[in-house]
Amino acid sequence: MTQANRCTEIIRGLLDFSRQTKPQKRSSDVSLILQECVSLVENQAVFHNIQIIRHFKENLPLVVIDPSQIQQVFINMLINAAEAMDGSGELKLATRFDSMDKFMEIEFADTGHGISEENMERIFDPFFTTKEVGHGTGLGLAISYGIVKEHNGTISVQSEVGKGTTFVVRLPVTTEEKGIEAGKQA
Ligand SMILES: Nc1ncnc2c1ncn2[C@@H]1O[C@H](COP(=O)(O)OP(=O)(O)O)[C@@H](O)[C@H]1O
Ligand SMILES: [Mg+2]
Repeated sequence: MTQANRCTEIIRGLLDFSRQTKPQKRSSDVSLILQECVSLVENQAVFHNIQIIRHFKENLPLVVIDPSQIQQVFINMLINAAEAMDGSGELKLATRFDSMDKFMEIEFADTGHGISEENMERIFDPFFTTKEVGHGTGLGLAISYGIVKEHNGTISVQSEVGKGTTFVVRLPVTTEEKGIEAGKQA
């Protein structure tokens, strides 16, 4: 194993460990959480010339999630998008319910620089960043991946260099007792 691989393994372990702190799950409205995240970041300079277009479906089912963890995921997606557009462009945000598979889908579509095929394989690796020293930690997507996985969800990504990138976070909508039980204490 190379030093770099060993390091990656250690970090993966740490990320797994940090997730041992049980998520505080409760029934939540993901559109509302996303809207709150937008409010938190939109006054930052990097968002000033970015047009945010919202396609939030109304009356979506609630999802049993840890709101602060999912907020962390959304904020990372929003900031990554803004940085990829270098501060100007169009960011489409959509929330919808896949009633067939019972998944909530949250989409972030930017008009940024895109992701090369070569980098695509590495974007979820801890410490992988294409940003200048001091600008990116390369931990955002690794942590987001861990959080979404812990919620039995998925993150998918599609990108075209020079055109833009779309990330889709999928979270299962469950009405299981267990989920509701966990939500009570929160
Ligand atoms: N929306 C996006 N458009 C283009 N590239 C992206 C986007 N989101 C993530 N990336 C790529 O994935 C890398 C890793 O992202 P992340 O884990 O959040 O770390 P960081 O933002 O600190 O670089 C980024 O450096 C960038 O190369
Ligand atoms: Mg990031």
